[in-house]
Amino acid sequence: MTESSPKVAYTTDNAGIPVESDEHSLTVSPDGPILLHDHYVIEKMAQFNRERVPERVVHAKGAGAYGFFEVTQDISQYTKADLFQPGRRTELLARFSTVAGEQGSPDTWRDPRGFALKFYTDHGNYDMVGNNTPIFFVRDPQKFQDFIHSQKRHPATGLRNNEMQWDFWTLSPETAHQVTWLMGDRGIPRSYRFMNGYSSHTYMWVNGGGERFWVKYHFKTDQGVDFIPQAEADELAGHDADRHRRDLHEAIESGDAPSWSLKVQIMPFEDAPDYRFNPFDLTKVWPHGDYPLIDVGRFTLNRNPEDYFVHIEQAAFEPSNLVPGIGPSPDKMLLGRLFSYPDAHRYRIGTNYSQLPPNRPRSGVNSYAKDGSMRYFPSNASMPYAPNSFGGPAADVEHFGTPAGWASAGEMVRAAYTLHSEDDDWGQAGTLVREVMDEAARDRLVSNVAGHLSQGVSRPVLERAFQYWRKVDKETGDRIAKQVNGG
Ligand code: HEM
Repeated sequence: MTESSPKVAYTTDNAGIPVESDEHSLTVSPDGPILLHDHYVIEKMAQFNRERVPERVVHAKGAGAYGFFEVTQDISQYTKADLFQPGRRTELLARFSTVAGEQGSPDTWRDPRGFALKFYTDHGNYDMVGNNTPIFFVRDPQKFQDFIHSQKRHPATGLRNNEMQWDFWTLSPETAHQVTWLMGDRGIPRSYRFMNGYSSHTYMWVNGGGERFWVKYHFKTDQGVDFIPQAEADELAGHDADRHRRDLHEAIESGDAPSWSLKVQIMPFEDAPDYRFNPFDLTKVWPHGDYPLIDVGRFTLNRNPEDYFVHIEQAAFEPSNLVPGIGPSPDKMLLGRLFSYPDAHRYRIGTNYSQLPPNRPRSGVNSYAKDGSMRYFPSNASMPYAPNSFGGPAADVEHFGTPAGWASAGEMVRAAYTLHSEDDDWGQAGTLVREVMDEAARDRLVSNVAGHLSQGVSRPVLERAFQYWRKVDKETGDRIAKQVNGG
């Protein structure tokens, strides 16, 4: 969806004027000084100096492609969202990423992976900005910045620093579940094609009758889940740092279009207050025995972007892009994210980022927004204010006027979530170790953690880490301590 200009057979400058040379600047005699007349060489140097936009503050390294989503089941009883109606097919853009590394960092570093989808629906863009894990490290957006600082580079040395990571994790027990995922096999997928994606958060769905449901999304890879063991990942980081970006591009280029099947867990609206876990706590899953997976449809990625910067680097995903039939939930992290992303885009790409090819809604835009840097689509509104009596758009309150929301009241406080009967920070992490991992996976978990802890982590933090793991699972903690202590 890039608007390309007509092709001419010769080089032009950015104004379309034929250039005099691709190789020689304009000088006074062959060995003489360069002339200011040479607008073209100045334009080349100046444009080059401005080629970079800031990289994403997190998820800087990634890969992406276009494709389509198809609904294969009838789930209209749960949501009226246009893209989930029976038989619907919706174009989409996907971007996968690592989290803590910079633009050039190796794809095979242990890290969660981002799983961001932008659906171009008939009611505007719907962005599902998830990860390859169903949970997260923290449950309050207040702690996100601190968490990320602890995973990135040390301010003095500019080096990644395991001490900071374990210091933060062991002082924040709510991280245990996600750290267990991270240190297990899912922490290094074989490639982006071989990992699942999750909304992680709980969202709200609203059906045509106004009935509300809580929902979690699971995008199951049709390629099968596969991982890379630590030693192979370390080796790949050295000789093929772009392994996962390459893998996605080459698979699509060769016609081997990867796909993911969407399944959802649906919780009746009324179940939330009494559920055994707080259903909005991002560090928890809903066991499938409680809320089984329901099939919805499938998305396929079949088109590589023709220009990586235009379509992937400038792609602006935002959890606040929710379309009619889908709303947020009381998950504090999600509510924090509703603010954060559009703010990041305005800083990183500019005020009118939503007009760029990957971000432009395929349905109409009838907003009263105007002007701003680099705006190039005039507004559809005849007058720049609402209401107006000159035929400008008016909100369709009858169809879209009821927000997806819930009742809320009480004193303003700074407090943790209210606890539900089985809420604690260690239980689901322990279940993951004991009931989901097999013996070989547990061995790799112990070895991955021990290896990580053996690189620059001081004794007091180490002791806390052993305790942390013993609380997840006593035997696993003991084995990690033994391995680190050289036993
Ligand atoms: C990227 C903030 C939690 C998934 C980003 C970006 C910011 C951010 C500022 C960069 C956006 C850009 O420049 O394009 C936050 C905050 C969080 C949070 C404040 C918590 C309060 C999460 C969680 C998930 C997640 C829980 C997954 C469930 C992603 C993904 C991207 C991203 C996938 C990359 C999107 C892309 O491919 O462009 N986040 N994040 N984030 N975040 Fe978060």
